[in-house]
Amino acid sequence: MRNILITGGAGFIGSHVVRFMVGKYPDRRIVNLDKLTYAGNPANLRDVENSPNYTFIKGDICDYELVCRIIRDHGIDGIVNLAAETHVDRSILDPLVFARTNVMGTLTLLQAARDCWNGEWSGKMFYHISTDEVYGALPLDGGAFDETTRYDPHSPYSASKASSDHFVRAYHDTYGMPTLISNCSNNYGAYQFPEKLIPLTINNIRHRRVIPVYGRGENIRDWLHVEDHARAIDLILHSGRAGETYNIGGNNECRNIDLVRMLIGAADRMLGRSEGESLSLITFVEDRAGHDLRYAIDSSKLQRELGWQPAITFEDGIERTVRWYLDNEEWFDSVTSGEYMLYYDKVYGNRR
Ligand code: NAD
Ligand code: TYD
Repeated sequence: MRNILITGGAGFIGSHVVRFMVGKYPDRRIVNLDKLTYAGNPANLRDVENSPNYTFIKGDICDYELVCRIIRDHGIDGIVNLAAETHVDRSILDPLVFARTNVMGTLTLLQAARDCWNGEWSGKMFYHISTDEVYGALPLDGGAFDETTRYDPHSPYSASKASSDHFVRAYHDTYGMPTLISNCSNNYGAYQFPEKLIPLTINNIRHRRVIPVYGRGENIRDWLHVEDHARAIDLILHSGRAGETYNIGGNNECRNIDLVRMLIGAADRMLGRSEGESLSLITFVEDRAGHDLRYAIDSSKLQRELGWQPAITFEDGIERTVRWYLDNEEWFDSVTSGEYMLYYDKVYGNRR
């Protein structure tokens, strides 16, 4: 494989994957196709934007002509699809945009790759990044999703991701396209848009705004550091078996309320506030509709077959993440634009 198209590379996970691959493969072209929605930010890639092996193209994965032109012009033989609408709460407010980008966008990419590669599959790979949310929810008292778990999505977001996964498998089974899918748990780390729990909490601590915790904060997520994820994506792209699915998890199950308290402990210390000062910001709010109780990932297949292990401990990862956001306040300010604050007020009713 020579030249790689990464879609959604200006977003949170995509920017880490672009940075990783631009650094690791100086003799390959890494092309980033991103529409720059509210979640895409070229500032996430400032440090690599002038690298000679990196090309950024602003555009939509639903644009078939554009995708074909990119595949042909840049001799693309590997595609890593990270472009998506990703926030569950937004999918509840506006599901259609999720179907458009996540379903039709993925299908457009598949069809463009099929037409451009024209049955010459040797050295080609279409790798789709999915989520553990397609598997539904687990009970509190045990179990974990593996690659054979039946799909059972509950939100418009997870339903759209499930649908795109099915199309990817259909292109493998029907046309013989070499495809890969990985389903990962919640990522955390630098450059995540502050509508997601961790950066939202840190940003609100910084501004002494209320921290909205849905329900009683008892829902559990399994947290994966984004740099461990980027490494897993590179490994799967180059060593995964075509047609296979790999689950990627961090082995860090945590209740939301415990995570928020951890973040407050670290942030208050770093900001020089008295211990626990920001605990009073915690505000229990109405639960998310259809809120999945617990996610947990069994990534033993990835460990067994490809030798991947998460390298960053949760404690260290959280410490580094809080430090990064507090050291990069101008990044927070630049992404929390007027448009974002309008959305924030709509969801949280002006509770600042
Ligand atoms: P993100 O919301 O931070 O970024 C998404 C990127 O896609 C943005 O740069 C946006 O501009 C771009 N984009 C959106 N619509 C587009 C379109 N039509 N054409 C081109 N670009 C478009 O998302 P993320 O958190 O980095 O997630 C990346 C992928 O990983 C997604 O597919 C998501 O479903 C999956 N995933 C994320 C997590 C997580 O915890 N963040 C967990 C599991 C799976
Ligand atoms: P989120 O970061 O939106 O990721 P996902 O919904 O994909 O898991 O939310 C993580 C968890 O935190 C989820 O259980 C919902 C909860 N949550 C809150 O309690 N308050 C918030 O303000 C947000 C954004 C999420």
